[in-house]
Amino acid sequence: MSSLLDTLFSVRDRTIVVTGGYGQIGSALVCAFIEAGANVAVLEPKVTPLKTDNAFGACASSPRLAVISADVTKRASLVDAQIELIERFGVPHGLINNAALDSPPDSPPEETGPFELYPEDSWDRVMDVNVKGVFLCCQVFGAAMAKAGRGSIVNVSSIYGAVSPDQSLYEYRRARGETFFKPVAYAASKSALYNLTRYLAVYWGARNVRANTVTFAGVFNHQDPEFLDRYEQKIPLRRKSERSDLKGMALPTDYVGPVAYLLADASGYMTGADLCVDGGFQAH
Ligand SMILES: NC(=O)c1ccc[n+]([C@@H]2O[C@H](COP(=O)([O-])OP(=O)(O)OC[C@H]3O[C@@H](n4cnc5c(N)ncnc54)[C@H](O)[C@@H]3O)[C@@H](O)[C@H]2O)c1
Repeated sequence: MSSLLDTLFSVRDRTIVVTGGYGQIGSALVCAFIEAGANVAVLEPKVTPLKTDNAFGACASSPRLAVISADVTKRASLVDAQIELIERFGVPHGLINNAALDSPPDSPPEETGPFELYPEDSWDRVMDVNVKGVFLCCQVFGAAMAKAGRGSIVNVSSIYGAVSPDQSLYEYRRARGETFFKPVAYAASKSALYNLTRYLAVYWGARNVRANTVTFAGVFNHQDPEFLDRYEQKIPLRRKSERSDLKGMALPTDYVGPVAYLLADASGYMTGADLCVDGGFQAH
């Protein structure tokens, strides 16, 4: 007999859509949910053959995984994806809006220059994926969940959507002679998700579709050692088991539990809320 906690936290046989599921965090979520007995549909603009030695590991060959070609900025491709998904696994129970564009550390200089010169087309590109993409996925998959009378939407935000990027973290780059500022569009786009989420929580509350955000802090990705030294000062949490090279940064698996909680019945009375998982970044 399974315990109440087992039942509350179970995602077994749930169908979950993960946009951007090939990415660093997305692939960790996908694998974890498949291992837990969920059916997972990954939406990516370019579907490439999955090998078992990639981020998905053994999950790559699971019959519970469907990789569907879809661009979150194109409504028609999402409608097609939903048809394929419903044929394969049925109406989704969960939607994780995880796909996003950020400006990586090696972005072209015009993207990371002064705010006054931030290119309009970069703004549009980021807003398109990070805000319009979430809006469209909610329209398409959320509508199906509302019709079915149940569902949970998890919109992935960032500490840089909750507070401004701390430009002093990047001072070391300016000291090296670069003109580097963490750009504006990502921060503005991630911030927009909080009220889009609250809007949906209210709008679909009567249809038993919940909508929440998660706010994540930075994930370790072999960043510049000078950045890591500065970033570590911003994170109060020191974990006993932490690898010393992480310097306070998260691993993708740190975010699996919080997202699973929001999808499972354990959070059944939670909607329109934010679950902040940032090692204490915003606590000071
Ligand atoms: N990595 C971090 O440090 C960090 C920190 C805080 C929040 N986040 C958030 O977590 C989420 C995942 O981040 P990540 O670092 O794993 O990202 P990532 O760049 O590793 O992966 C993003 C994925 O989205 C996909 N994608 C891009 N455009 C798309 C489109 N139009 N349609 C469908 N898919 C598209 C990409 O192909 C990629 O696989 C994002 O929402 C990000 O803002 C990340």
